[in-house]
Amino acid sequence: MSTMRHQLECIGCHTQYPSTDEAYACSRCGDLLEITYDSNDLREFVNVSAWKSRPPSVWKYEQLLPIGATSVKITLGEGGTTLHRTTRLGELLGNKQLNVKNEGENPTGSFKDRGMTVGVSRAVEINSKKVICASTGNTSASLAAYAAKAGLECVVIIPQGKIALGKLVQAVAHGARVIQIEGYFDDALRSVLSLVKSNPKLYLLNSVNPYRIEGQKTLAYEIWDQLAEDIPDTVIVPVGNAGNISAIWKGFQDLKQIGLISRSPRMVGIQALGASPVTEAFKSGRSEVIPIQHPETIATAIKIGSPASWKKALRAVRDSGGIMEAVTDDEILAAQKLLARLEGVFVEPASASSIAGVKKLIEIGLVGTDERVTCVVTGHGLKDPEIVSQEFEKSTTVKASQLECLLN
Ligand code: F0G
Repeated sequence: MSTMRHQLECIGCHTQYPSTDEAYACSRCGDLLEITYDSNDLREFVNVSAWKSRPPSVWKYEQLLPIGATSVKITLGEGGTTLHRTTRLGELLGNKQLNVKNEGENPTGSFKDRGMTVGVSRAVEINSKKVICASTGNTSASLAAYAAKAGLECVVIIPQGKIALGKLVQAVAHGARVIQIEGYFDDALRSVLSLVKSNPKLYLLNSVNPYRIEGQKTLAYEIWDQLAEDIPDTVIVPVGNAGNISAIWKGFQDLKQIGLISRSPRMVGIQALGASPVTEAFKSGRSEVIPIQHPETIATAIKIGSPASWKKALRAVRDSGGIMEAVTDDEILAAQKLLARLEGVFVEPASASSIAGVKKLIEIGLVGTDERVTCVVTGHGLKDPEIVSQEFEKSTTVKASQLECLLN
């Protein structure tokens, strides 16, 4: 199986760059770059029937990924996550066709692994030896694991005291150099972007890296596969730095260009109320996002005030006829509990924002009873065990001799 030729294209001024350039921002206007393929190639090259014989995984769609056919693939078995048909949750919320795509099943427990398998394979393909990212936690955990697999040096920069323990532990366990800085994720990302500019030996693996977006777009292909080659009406995604919603939209656009679907789902982005600059821009009809200086939410993964991919995300939502909404911390915690207790799916707070979002949108009439909805839940609940011990019921301690009387 071989792969298609690709190039990089600016999302603003559409300047094209050859695939040999390792830039992530346009040197003319500064906007982000994305990977593009020739649309004739897309239609002629992709052999959908070959997909059928391959097990579910990110690399099942290798033909649509920008890594050379003979290049080494750094994989830990990512993708192929369950699309749960909810019954009890859907019934409670008032939607008969509610599915939940559980990205917490990925190797390091979040959707980041889809992007990282491609991004780190690219790092190896271009012979890079040292990788770096800023992170609210999951990106650092994922990069640390894939760098370990590839034998690369790994540096992760995190906002001091603001990431969940489970994620920090993962980065340490996989041998990354973990550096905490004062401030927010936005400060960490700004520092990393300026560092890679002055040190081209560092390979950047935040979601501004277009290779990561290519990996993450496979989530759309998988939903289409799991719905027997159909798509939902609406896909609801938690939004932080705004890479993932843009990636999933790109995946649906690919399917359309290949001719596998004739319409696209509407993309709905959900942010935490204290960290919702994209939602604010959307609701006020602005074309620019105004950064929030001090973002606040218990959903630390999406505690981001200045999302790097805001332009791509706003475009995805507007082009698809979708919406952006914000949910409170209380709504997030209630949704986390509902999903865990009604469907047996345990996710971290940021992930539960899509569930809190669908609940709110049903209540205000923006999602209908028969609408076919897929909520993406992005990371495993064990990433942030402290939130459960703080916010959920405490366990009781009794003497063994008291058990019988307690439970009768
Ligand atoms: N959900 C989880 C669990 C996340 O970790 C993130 C982002 C998001 C949602 C939002 O995705 O940024 O693509 O809009 N986490 C990043 C990190 C920022 O560093 O781990 P996004």
